Amino acid sequence: MARRKVRFGIIGLGLMGKEFGSAAARWCHLLSEGPVPEIAGVCDANPAAFGWFRDNFPSISIATQNYQDLLAAKDIEAVYCAVPHNLHERLYVDIIRAGKHLMGEKPFGIDQKANTRILQAVKENPGVLVRCCSEFPYFPAAQRLITWIRERKFGRILEVRAGFHHSSDMDVTKPINWKRMVEVNGEYGCMGDLGIHTQHIPFRAGWAPRTVYAALSKIVTERPDGRGGMVPCRTWDNAALSCAVEYDGYSFPLVLETKRMAPGATNTWFIEVYGLQASARFSTAEPKSFWYCETRGKEQAWSRLDLGYASAVPAITGGIFEFGFPDAIQQMWAVFLQELSGEKPAFGTFTPEEARLSHALQTAALASHQKGSVQEVRP
Ligand SMILES: NC(=O)c1ccc[n+]([C@@H]2O[C@H](COP(=O)([O-])OP(=O)(O)OC[C@H]3O[C@@H](n4cnc5c(N)ncnc54)[C@H](O)[C@@H]3O)[C@@H](O)[C@H]2O)c1
Repeated sequence: MARRKVRFGIIGLGLMGKEFGSAAARWCHLLSEGPVPEIAGVCDANPAAFGWFRDNFPSISIATQNYQDLLAAKDIEAVYCAVPHNLHERLYVDIIRAGKHLMGEKPFGIDQKANTRILQAVKENPGVLVRCCSEFPYFPAAQRLITWIRERKFGRILEVRAGFHHSSDMDVTKPINWKRMVEVNGEYGCMGDLGIHTQHIPFRAGWAPRTVYAALSKIVTERPDGRGGMVPCRTWDNAALSCAVEYDGYSFPLVLETKRMAPGATNTWFIEVYGLQASARFSTAEPKSFWYCETRGKEQAWSRLDLGYASAVPAITGGIFEFGFPDAIQQMWAVFLQELSGEKPAFGTFTPEEARLSHALQTAALASHQKGSVQEVRP
């Protein structure tokens, strides 16, 4: 049976707009019976961004620099809006008022005033689905941790720590971009950029902070402007929020870290839950490992469970594989096609000669085992 299509408009065709396009293009990866996104319209202030979308999505009927054109399009049902933070309020409110379902982006308004206005529009349009989401809770190990929270496996919570660490700003010669400009990124700085990623699971668990003590650092105060000069860099680089949570009649600390300057960390997201009966932790630095510890008598020992491709929405990738496997497969096929078109990739696919060596090795291995002797490998 033909699956329902949800025709999407994308506003903001940068880093994140393209990621949604790519995810939509690979929808056949999922085994769900649910609706399929179809990219019907795209919008960016910079028309150079249209090319990649036009080349890859024949379903696009509108490419425009004015987002109102997408909102006026009757056949567009939903919008993904991934634009700089200073635009969230105006665009999100207009999208919601136009009756389009909205997947927005963090921080969902540049500041509290902007967020309040967006929420007012949400209230006035109850038929419109509005969300803004972190992707990290969808790692299999994070899903397992969420299940443990639901099953109350941790017992009394002792402490929860969640964070998002980057190191790309450690390079002080990196030119400034909008994410380092207070007027575009917002006063929250690294918190607005990364905070929702750290809050998604704790907030959903019901662990709402009652108080906060914040240690905010501004480390790099100016950056190259990309034209040979220097400009002030006024955003917060690192934030450590020490919160108190009231839960189930007791209080526990929730520590949320968002750091742009964390030595060695590349987009590392983590969550750690410590409890009286059990504890668990996950970091994208170890993408398939679910670390857990159960209290037995007086002792606790940490164990690492490697999880397979256990996705929240069923997918064609077998559970025996792991997260990241579909990316590796796509890369392998891309290299095969490079070779097919006469290119010489730095690391090519396995050749028939290498297959011959493989057979010679394995045939000799069988003989070695059978005879209990060292065998020569003869390709
Ligand atoms: N979920 C995540 O992991 C994640 C990662 C990065 C960024 N983000 C969020 O996504 C949003 C966009 O970030 P990005 O990294 O994709 O930024 P980006 O700079 O790569 O892309 C933003 C795009 O918006 C366009 N734009 C600017 N003004 C516009 C206007 N008036 N109308 C239409 N288009 C306009 C720009 O030309 C640019 O192409 C931000 O809210 C950011 O916080 C989320």
